[in-house]
Amino acid sequence: MTTAPANPNKALWEKGDFTRIAATMRESGEALVQRIGIGKGHKVLDLGCGDGTTALPAAKLGADVLGIDIARNLVEAGNRRAAEHGLANCKFQEGDAADLQGVEDRAFDAVVSIFGAMFAPRPFDVAKEMVRVARPGGRIVMGNWIPNDPTLVAQILKISSAYAPPPPEGFVSPMTWGVESHVVERFGGAGVPPKRISFDRDTFIFNYDGAPAQLVDEFRKYYGPTMNAFEAAEKNGRDANLQSELVDLFSSQNTSKSATSIPATFLRVTVAV
Ligand SMILES: C[S@@+](CC[C@H](N)C(=O)[O-])C[C@H]1O[C@@H](n2cnc3c(N)ncnc32)[C@H](O)[C@@H]1O
Repeated sequence: MTTAPANPNKALWEKGDFTRIAATMRESGEALVQRIGIGKGHKVLDLGCGDGTTALPAAKLGADVLGIDIARNLVEAGNRRAAEHGLANCKFQEGDAADLQGVEDRAFDAVVSIFGAMFAPRPFDVAKEMVRVARPGGRIVMGNWIPNDPTLVAQILKISSAYAPPPPEGFVSPMTWGVESHVVERFGGAGVPPKRISFDRDTFIFNYDGAPAQLVDEFRKYYGPTMNAFEAAEKNGRDANLQSELVDLFSSQNTSKSATSIPATFLRVTVAV
């Protein structure tokens, strides 16, 4: 009997429990879908949707939402949350952003991917798939973290990567989606001219009802990429150093006196299809 080879991209996001981190991102998810003008009757694909931080608010605004994500546990959590909120217009299913099997061409008014499709390998295929399933006259909105940005997420990655083994040869960093020239090149490969692509700097706020060090613990216990960094650091006896660097980072970026509130800058990409 042969078994399918493991998909490391899927394994990474099924690891731990990303819903614990997503819980800190709900207010910003809701504000973002309002800001980008999702509304009643829109057909929306939320790609790399997680457990629905943007999909649920989009459905609450009256859109007809399909969330697609590679992680089975997050798809299950999304469907559970949609049912709890009585949102029959919000469905989640498993799928790969680089190969949207079974999704029809030109099916959506808006393809939204907030810190989602950026994590799929094969970025040129991802751009092609997003363009394929958006209807002409529709749009694609991506939220992408920015490499070397001084705010939280890029700094977590920078610190963590110093503890992890080097990535395999040919690995394309997800953070390259935060570089405008790469975005233009990838959508160019899908037939979209640069003049149809616009860029804005935007902000997501991580809100947590506890101290910054406790939020670091949440990342350590539940966020796949940080779990992997700690596993690598533990092998070298350096996990206490990683912990202390992250606690310093989270504490220095915290803007709340009583709990934790950390803003992080991202690149918002809008493509007119
Ligand atoms: C940082 S989380 C963001 C989730 C959600 N958009 C949010 O804002 O809470 C990244 C998400 O991308 C998903 N993802 C990673 N690779 C993917 C792929 N190849 N296809 C679809 N989803 C993918 C992960 O499973 C995870 O849910």
